Amino acid sequence: MARDCMRIIGGTALSGEVSVSGGKNTSVAAIPATLLADGPCVLENIPDIDDVHALIDILRSLGAQVSFDADRNVMKVDPTTVNTCVVSRENAQRLRASYYLMGALLGRLGEAEVPLPGGCPIGPRPIDQHLKAFRALGAEVDDEGGVVHMKAPELMGSLISFDIVTVGGTINAILAAAKAEGVTLIQNAAREPHVVDVANLINSMGGKVRGAGTAMIRITGQRHLRGTNYAVIPDQIETGTMMIAAAATHGDVTIHNCIPVHMESLTAKLLEVGVRVSAEDDVIRVWDNPRQAHRAVKVTTQAYPGFPTDLQQPFSALLTTASGVSKIEETIFEQRFRHLDELVRMGARVDVRDSVASIEGVPRLIGTSVTVTDLRAGAGLLVAGLMAEGETVILEPHFIDRGYDHVVEKLSGLGARISREVLE
Ligand code: EPZ
Repeated sequence: MARDCMRIIGGTALSGEVSVSGGKNTSVAAIPATLLADGPCVLENIPDIDDVHALIDILRSLGAQVSFDADRNVMKVDPTTVNTCVVSRENAQRLRASYYLMGALLGRLGEAEVPLPGGCPIGPRPIDQHLKAFRALGAEVDDEGGVVHMKAPELMGSLISFDIVTVGGTINAILAAAKAEGVTLIQNAAREPHVVDVANLINSMGGKVRGAGTAMIRITGQRHLRGTNYAVIPDQIETGTMMIAAAATHGDVTIHNCIPVHMESLTAKLLEVGVRVSAEDDVIRVWDNPRQAHRAVKVTTQAYPGFPTDLQQPFSALLTTASGVSKIEETIFEQRFRHLDELVRMGARVDVRDSVASIEGVPRLIGTSVTVTDLRAGAGLLVAGLMAEGETVILEPHFIDRGYDHVVEKLSGLGARISREVLE
């Protein structure tokens, strides 16, 4: 049976310049958000990734007219022809972010029928907080049988106090509240850059969202939101993955079209490891002293502005050859260490107890055949393959296609010996 794979000959220090694409986690919220508009929207800097194509299919299935110029990263959405509030189970299961259709359809039509989402198998990932927000706004919510049915003749502004910090829940609440009657207060809101980006998008449509980026967001509902032309922010996690790959291969890489302030928790950890980082405007440079071994560090994943859980997996690959014992505590997801088994097969020395992984540095990783289990595990195995001695064959690379735009071309441009192949 033919098998898709990525093949890497490791050991090359990455060097040169690379540009980051638009953000996955902001785009997968911005695209559903266009359904709130009374007219056509243009979104720029949209990455050409599988999750974006899944959302294009979903919006078209709802009756919206969507065009996407993947070369120019420009998407046009005309939501005025939307004629149903029903999302198919097949489409909903293709990605986690299909849950944003709940808030967007509730906001546009006052009703939604959306199956529970798919997404990376990194834990149970319930959406109880999203449903709590919709109920607070006055929606009748029935979540039996794996499909969320919601009706809200009139969405009324309210206080939404999240029991935990949730990125998806925060953004979904903003989408549903943007056109609700009156004022909505969101307490214990997520502060991620893409929460701020979606708030800015809604404001560019004539919305009134204040305080995004803090734990308290205030939304004054507007009866009408207009079409807009908006460019989404660069991908924080792709930026971080490139920074980690540069450091892990003892290279010298300059990353363009990024937002350095979004990267501060990773930058601080890379400096602790002994890597050099400089930043100005929309450029970050990461370089290394190849003769100096990386130092082991302790990392705890946290909601923004803490160390992002999405960078835990690629960062763990870098730590496999740091001198000493590193500790990674994963506090956000319950099963986000599955990639470590594959790193052990490459010679890493890892011990996992509950939510803490201890990684004892080894002199080098050795290339072998490894299998991707989720998107950021794939990023971790890419970094490991670039570091390893010899050849690494990465199986199930389709997970990586969900969140990284032209990653093989970008890494090749930095000198990596990497190719996409079909194994017969
Ligand atoms: C978003 O997932 C991202 N996905 C994830 O990125 C990211 O890891 C995560 O935020 C944290 O930053 C998208 O934006 C599409 P959460 P989300 O709600 O919204 C629990 C990637 O690799 N929770 O902040 O699912 C949940 O189980 C992906 O790009 C509830 O219990 O994350 C988790 O343990 C992976 N009830 C924690 O909260 C809820 O109603 C944080 O989840 C919602 C969440």
